[in-house]
Amino acid sequence: MDAMLKAAGTAGTIAEETLDPFDWADVQALSHRIVDDAVDYLRDIRERPVWQEMPAEVREFFAAPLPRSPQPLAQVYGEVARNVMAYPMGNIHPRFWSWYMGSSNFTGALGDFLAAIQGSNLGGGNHAAALMDSQVVDWCKQMMGFPQSASGTLVSGGSMANIIGLTVARNARAGVDVREHGVAAIDQPLRFYGSDQVHSCHRKAMEALGLGNRALRRIPTDAGLRIDIDALRSAIAADRNAGFRPACVIGTAGTVNTGAIDDLQALARLAAQEDLWFHVDGCIGALIAIAPENSHRVAGIEQADSIALDPHKWLHAPFEVGCALVRDASAHRNTFAVTPEYLESTPRGLASGQWLHDFGLQTSRGFRALKVWMALKQHGVEKFGRLIDQNIAQGHYLGALIEAEPLLELVAPPRINIVCFRYRSDGLTGERQKALNTEIMLRLQEGGIAAVSDTTVHGQHCLRVAINNHRTRRDDLDLLVRETVRLGQEVLNFP
Ligand SMILES: Cc1ncc(COP(=O)(O)O)c(C=O)c1O
Repeated sequence: MDAMLKAAGTAGTIAEETLDPFDWADVQALSHRIVDDAVDYLRDIRERPVWQEMPAEVREFFAAPLPRSPQPLAQVYGEVARNVMAYPMGNIHPRFWSWYMGSSNFTGALGDFLAAIQGSNLGGGNHAAALMDSQVVDWCKQMMGFPQSASGTLVSGGSMANIIGLTVARNARAGVDVREHGVAAIDQPLRFYGSDQVHSCHRKAMEALGLGNRALRRIPTDAGLRIDIDALRSAIAADRNAGFRPACVIGTAGTVNTGAIDDLQALARLAAQEDLWFHVDGCIGALIAIAPENSHRVAGIEQADSIALDPHKWLHAPFEVGCALVRDASAHRNTFAVTPEYLESTPRGLASGQWLHDFGLQTSRGFRALKVWMALKQHGVEKFGRLIDQNIAQGHYLGALIEAEPLLELVAPPRINIVCFRYRSDGLTGERQKALNTEIMLRLQEGGIAAVSDTTVHGQHCLRVAINNHRTRRDDLDLLVRETVRLGQEVLNFP
């Protein structure tokens, strides 16, 4: 074998090309510089604006045509530093609280780098990265209190994790072989149920699954924006009477608007009584299960048939990584597994072992597990649990600051780490109040002060702060309140 390899190494006389550098030492020096810059970038994040608008020349930079000839890597990096690194979305900044993001971490970034260097494809095969992927899925099961016999898969994020769970639910409850015959063969139309606060990705899932948006019934919520269990029970009965087949209930552990957590124990009981699949969208709140002071809020999640959770939110993994867990491993595999002749496994060697593409839609799969694995190993899961408790305590702290400030009012009391509030001004209502609060939000962003988003809760437009951020400190929230009040007065005085 050695002789064969040597012969192969000396045989080449033609000038064959490669993407590898001509001079590895050059690349090494530049790479050290890039890592140094990256460390500085993160260390000094607090000193920079949360977000800033890109000047015209930066926008023009992105209109440049396809490069045809080479350029030194140092120059390429210089362009990235000037035009990309300087204009981030801002979600790693301590005062970024828009929508719902994680704030990433350096170890996770190293993990992504090493994953790319190793370059493994986790669609299948017998190699260490594939084992680590399964190990991270096992760790997610442990965090959720799921049995080891359950299965799961790492995907791009929460939307895909929900699609995985809902696809298994559809196939398990369809009453026909959907894979073979399609949804048209289902004799009674399926019905899925979620609250009127359910995330928009479920609508996309219903459409993609061929069931249609109307197959997802939005059940009204109570005053705390949690699904109304009695209304759900009635809707299921009414659907059965009308000839539909109730198939699945989606409980939300942490709604995107306000962080409301459905009564998961009651939903588990109802699903069992009605023989429905019980899926939990835990993209925001499933990981509260590891937070010692707050885990009681998601009690019942361990009874789900499937869970979607999002390590790129409260585990702060760099984008992207979501995770779908399915209690019945064979139902999961039976939903997706296909073995074409060119992907058959072998008893030994590279193609032996579990083929991970059998648990989802992708064939090629990236090595997402490493960034999650390294950060969990470095910090331990208990630290992540404490950081979740910290963010929830910060949410309540901000709620108290707003209650104490006469010019602001809460639109919904904070439940976990999401705070909905608005600037109030006597005499301003409806659209004018919305315009005022929108202007405050834009000035906060454009001033690089803080990133908050907005939504509508109980019919009232409001600003929304989602503290999913391990860098946020209470003085950042003090500053937000001060600046919101200042900007509110400024807008009223100088519209
Ligand atoms: C409750 C809920 N479900 C699903 C999603 C979608 O997750 P992702 O953005 O990771 O696809 C989100 C996103 O914030 C969410 O809040």
